[in-house]
Amino acid sequence: MSFDLPAVLAALPAFPQLRAARVRLRGPRPNDADAVFALFSDPAVMRYWSRPPMTQRSEAEASIAEMEEAFAERDKINWVVADKSDTVIGTCTLFRFDPRHRRAELGYALRSDQWGKGLAREAVSAALDWAFRTLSLHRIEADIDPRNDGSRRILERLGFASEGVLRERFFVGERAADSEIFGLLSSDWSAQRR
Ligand SMILES: CC(C)(COP(=O)(O)OP(=O)(O)OC[C@H]1O[C@@H](n2cnc3c(N)ncnc32)[C@H](O)[C@@H]1OP(=O)(O)O)[C@@H](O)C(=O)NCCC(=O)NCCS
Repeated sequence: MSFDLPAVLAALPAFPQLRAARVRLRGPRPNDADAVFALFSDPAVMRYWSRPPMTQRSEAEASIAEMEEAFAERDKINWVVADKSDTVIGTCTLFRFDPRHRRAELGYALRSDQWGKGLAREAVSAALDWAFRTLSLHRIEADIDPRNDGSRRILERLGFASEGVLRERFFVGERAADSEIFGLLSSDWSAQRR
C-alpha cells in the first residue's frame, strides 16, 4: 500500500489537538515553561531518562522552543498533556518517523503527583489512536529501561508486546542501562478496539 507519510505530516495545519475524558493534548506554548520545568526537574520523572533533571527554568523555555521547532520540521510531534484547567501535567511524543516502514517511536511523561490515576494511559491512548488512524502507521515502538515498572505497565495495558532487551544501550547518569523494546501493530490496536 502506498501512503505518503511526509505529505500527511506536512499537511497538518498545526499541532493536532486531541481530547480524552480528563486530559487534552495540544502544542506547547511559551507560557507553559513553569509547568514544563516542574515536570522535568522532578527526579522521580527523570529517573530512567537518558538526561538529568532540569535545574533551570531556562532549560524548560529551550525545551518548548525545541518542541515547536521539531514540529515545524515535522520531525516530532511533541504534545503537552494539559488537565481540565489547561495546566501542563505531562508530555506525549511521536518521533523517529520512518515513512518507508510506516513506523514511529513513542515517549511520554507525567508529573509524579498525578501518577496512578490513569491519566497517562488516557493521553497516550488518544495519541496512538490518532497516529494509527491519521498517519496510517503500521507499527509504533517504545523503548524503556527494563526497571521502569510504571512505563512497562502502561505499555502492556495499551497492548504493546515486549520484543527484546538490548544490553547497555543508554547511559543513565554514569551507568549504562539496558533498553527493552516494545512494539504495537496497527492490527493489535484495531483488534483491541473491536
Ligand atoms: C510512565 C508514567 C507516565 C506512567 O504514569 P501512571 O500514572 O502510572 O500511568 P497510567 O496512566 O497508566 O496509570 C495507571 C495506574 O492508575 C490507576 N488508575 C486509577 N484510576 C484509573 C482510571 N480511571 N483508568 C485507568 N487507570 C487508573 C491504575 O490502577 C494504574 O495502576 P496499575 O497499573 O498499577 O494498576 C509515569 O510513571 C512517568 O511519567 N514516569 C516517568 C517518565 C518515564 O519514565 N516515561 C517513560 C519513558 S520510556
